[in-house]
Amino acid sequence: MKISWRLVVGAGLAGLWLSGFAMVERPAAQGQTATSTTRKKAGEAFKNVTTSTLKELSVDDFVASMGLISANLGLDCADCHPHAGTDQADFVIDTPRKQTTRRMVEMVATINRTNFGGVQRVTCWTCHHGRITPSTTIALDAWYDIPNAEIDDLVRSESGQPSADQILDKYIQALGGAQRLAGLTSFVATGTAVAYGELGGNADFTILAKGPNQRTTLITYKDHPERGASSWSFDGRTGWMKTPRGLLGEYELVGSELDGVRLEAQLSFPGQIKQALDNWRGGAARSIGDRDFLAVQGSGPRGFLATLYFDPATGLLARVVRYGPSPIGRMPTQIDYSDYRDVGGIKFPFEYKFTWLDGRYTAKLNDVKTNVAIDAARFGRPSAK
Ligand code: HEC
Ligand code: HEC
Repeated sequence: MKISWRLVVGAGLAGLWLSGFAMVERPAAQGQTATSTTRKKAGEAFKNVTTSTLKELSVDDFVASMGLISANLGLDCADCHPHAGTDQADFVIDTPRKQTTRRMVEMVATINRTNFGGVQRVTCWTCHHGRITPSTTIALDAWYDIPNAEIDDLVRSESGQPSADQILDKYIQALGGAQRLAGLTSFVATGTAVAYGELGGNADFTILAKGPNQRTTLITYKDHPERGASSWSFDGRTGWMKTPRGLLGEYELVGSELDGVRLEAQLSFPGQIKQALDNWRGGAARSIGDRDFLAVQGSGPRGFLATLYFDPATGLLARVVRYGPSPIGRMPTQIDYSDYRDVGGIKFPFEYKFTWLDGRYTAKLNDVKTNVAIDAARFGRPSAK
């Protein structure tokens, strides 16, 4: 029977539930190894990573790119790596499908280099669309009846729509205004998180945030302490991720995940939203399901992108999709915000739906305390606390 890694992992809330994989230098839960390993390139840190593009990635981006390949082909880790998801996992051995994958990775690089001037226009998704064997012929229903819901990653300003600047100003106003937001220096939000999948269960959910750009998100199981805690933290400079059963254990974020936690920390203090990204463009009309939104997009460092969807009626932020670059396609992470409630004159989203390549969870807040003192160590390395 096939074990869905999405299910297993989604239930664990974060990270890849894997053991038995061999790294040249496996990161330890203590000592300096976690940092030095993630600072290495994947080609050095792993035993058998040889493609011209993937071997250049940081370890955390390499593991995320494995999640991207799985999603693009509709596969589990175990479809290419024997016994992945068990303690007999063998990620090093070459299977025929792994060999084909290597060939495809090089093919994608070649197509983009020789046909698109080195710009990444073709990715695994372009052909595979979540299937192991790409389809070749259009189904006629798709021509006449079913609207194509696929969208471009890139947002362009549309005439007749408000500018990105106007949309961001309206958002600041809708939250309570620039002056009130400037008075927000920190907050602690608490609630519960529910993961998807059969193995799910209620977890305690906590956000600690300190302006202008520090944030820690914690997920802990009161009823199942054996599941351990998950945390993502950013102290204004360095970021850490810790998942109890993760492939990498506790590790320092160095790839696009670092840009991701930085953005999330900055967006926790939305008065400064315009400074969080560069080169804002939009607005553009975009739908999510049957609801219409206004999208704006900004750029971060090293090819990082984020698209923000605002509700045109309320002006409030409904969704952020951030994209980390990789040689085989952009790696998306999506956060949906809803149930905005007033806390001392500022609106906070009381519901978060967090979706990324290796899991998803919904968090519901029941309390937000603003302008409280938070120990600086809470934003640093998890095991150092
Ligand atoms: C479609 C096939 C495919 C799927 C699915 C897949 N991988 Fe891989 N994996 C590869 C290939 C190919 C390599 C070698 C890449 C290279 O040589 O650049 C690799 C290498 C690895 C390595 C490095 C092993 C070593 O020490 O050399 C790890 C770890 C890994 N994959 C983890 C995962 C995880 C975790 C998943 C599920 C999220 C996954 N892979 C899903 C094809 C796949
Ligand atoms: C230009 C279109 C195209 C792109 C882009 C593409 N593929 Fe493929 N891929 C195919 C086709 C077509 C097949 C089926 C070949 C066959 O069945 O003989 C295939 C087959 C595969 C298979 C073998 C599946 C099996 O049956 O075991 C894997 C694995 C695979 N692709 C991985 C990838 C990965 C990973 C990427 C991105 C790095 C990628 N492909 C990008 C067209 C593409």
